[in-house]
Amino acid sequence: MSVLKCIVLLNWAAMAYAVNYNEASIREVTDNVMVHGEGPFWDLENNVLYFVDISEHRVYRFYQNRLEHVKFDEDVSFVIPVAGQQGLFVIGLGTTLSSLRWNLNENTHKVTGLVTVDHNKPGNRWNDAKADNNGYLWAGTMGFEDAAGNIPPNRGTLYKLNDTGCFQNLDPILPGVSVSNGLAWNENGTRMYYIDSPTKQIVLFDYDPSTASISNRRTFYDFKTDNIPGVPDGMTIDANDNLWIANYDGAQVLHVSGSSAKLLGKLKIMAEKVSSVTFGGPKLDKLYVTTISRGVTPEKFNEYPMSGKVLEVSGLGVVGKPNRRIRGKCFRLL
Ligand SMILES: *[C@@H]1O[C@H](CO)[C@@H](O)[C@H](O)[C@H]1NC(C)=O
Ligand SMILES: *[C@@H]1O[C@H](CO)[C@@H](O)[C@H](O)[C@H]1NC(C)=O
Repeated sequence: MSVLKCIVLLNWAAMAYAVNYNEASIREVTDNVMVHGEGPFWDLENNVLYFVDISEHRVYRFYQNRLEHVKFDEDVSFVIPVAGQQGLFVIGLGTTLSSLRWNLNENTHKVTGLVTVDHNKPGNRWNDAKADNNGYLWAGTMGFEDAAGNIPPNRGTLYKLNDTGCFQNLDPILPGVSVSNGLAWNENGTRMYYIDSPTKQIVLFDYDPSTASISNRRTFYDFKTDNIPGVPDGMTIDANDNLWIANYDGAQVLHVSGSSAKLLGKLKIMAEKVSSVTFGGPKLDKLYVTTISRGVTPEKFNEYPMSGKVLEVSGLGVVGKPNRRIRGKCFRLL
């Protein structure tokens, strides 16, 4: 058999395992076009979808078919509720961790700065963040992204909010990352998955649930293995402990096995810059997907008409886990 034929056959074998979710139905949550949609969070208690538009400086909520937002005067990169306190969130504003009080059915809001990071790195900003199984907030930064999308490497850090010191200082867990992105923990809380986008890899750490600490970093899934274009961005984990990874510049969401690290499936998205995913809906059986329209030319818009839309995917036959809230200890006086 020729080498070429062999490669074709191997590719075919790999494709045969990865399902294309052509049956899934995808609808636009709203008509609004986001410049840089990111950070979807499903609030299962109140059936609200929260997300941000980073470069438009907006935190959105989609609730009872109404889209509402709060506008800030700098980049806002994530919005995560605090446990035990209705209407209290932690947001990433520039490089400041802030609290946002924004009750449902109220239009007013209040913002309080808590702690600022990366003082010696002008132009940095917060990027993706999530609360782990114990409710500890993990939040990462990245260097300044210019209009062409270039980002200087190794300027970011992944931090953890430790409720011993609270806002005195955040624990720098992984310094020297470039674009801190997707975070996920498995159900029994022994593993943490992490993405630094330009590496094109999902890495795996052992996670110690008793100390909320990580160790033993290794590569879990590499985009090069399956010739995946673009980079991994946001990520979530389903009830079977399998990963769903937003593929920025790849116009798809990848489904990767948490046990074998094999590519299980691909969900095509009519937006090239897919930024993040989370499960939601009252039964957690919908996948919410954020996308980006910044830098998309009119020709690309014809090819990818959902660029900038927030999407709801039904019919995947998979359910997710509830998004975790941030533990309340540091927030009692806010
Ligand atoms: C928080 O910080 C203290 C003091 O630095 C440390 O002893 C403790 O293990 C940390 N807790 C977590 C959950 O990281
Ligand atoms: C936790 O789950 C992982 C798979 O996600 C499995 O490999 C591991 O054995 C489990 N550990 C415990 C202590 O149940």
